[in-house]
Amino acid sequence: MSNGGANEGRRRFLTAATSVVGAAGVVGVAVPFVGSWNPSAKARAAGAPVKVNIGNIEPGGMVTEEWRGKPVYIVRRTQAALDTIPKLDDVVVDPRSEEPQQPDYAKNPHRSIKEEFLILVGLCTHLGCAPIYRPDVGAEDLGGDEWLGGFFCPCHGSKFDLAGRVYQSVPAPTNLVVPPHSYESASVVVIGIDQEA
Ligand code: FES
Repeated sequence: MSNGGANEGRRRFLTAATSVVGAAGVVGVAVPFVGSWNPSAKARAAGAPVKVNIGNIEPGGMVTEEWRGKPVYIVRRTQAALDTIPKLDDVVVDPRSEEPQQPDYAKNPHRSIKEEFLILVGLCTHLGCAPIYRPDVGAEDLGGDEWLGGFFCPCHGSKFDLAGRVYQSVPAPTNLVVPPHSYESASVVVIGIDQEA
């Protein structure tokens, strides 16, 4: 009998201990869950980096994310799109990206870390409207055969190529801005953190 009582007592203890662990486990799960929501909203407002999965963007497609309250365009360029860039060196204002509109690691002919992915702040360098992505080569309203794809600002007509370089004779004075960014993996880009040298 005395053993049975001891076992009974031990069972009660274990049950109680399990309940405490269970409750602690729930709290342990609940805190990070809540924490991942509220601070996230505050962090975004404060300009925290933004991670974007770019693996699902179709070739030729574009997604828009928000970073520091600004739109950020991410375009997956095709080889045909990349081939248009050198053809436009004579019609853009700053073909070699001499103006500091991009981090040093994006000061190259394609203005990006990886040739395939163009990452730009989607604000026109004239008065800040959002340029529209117009990859449709030969668009009649944008110059017909001379239009090789790019971005068009609907406010005052500025045009940019598929590296975000501004055309000559439009109101915008400089190329679109390339924000600081880096790659966490092949398919995840972090907007707001510079690539390490
Ligand atoms: S704001 Fe884009 S052309 Fe004026």
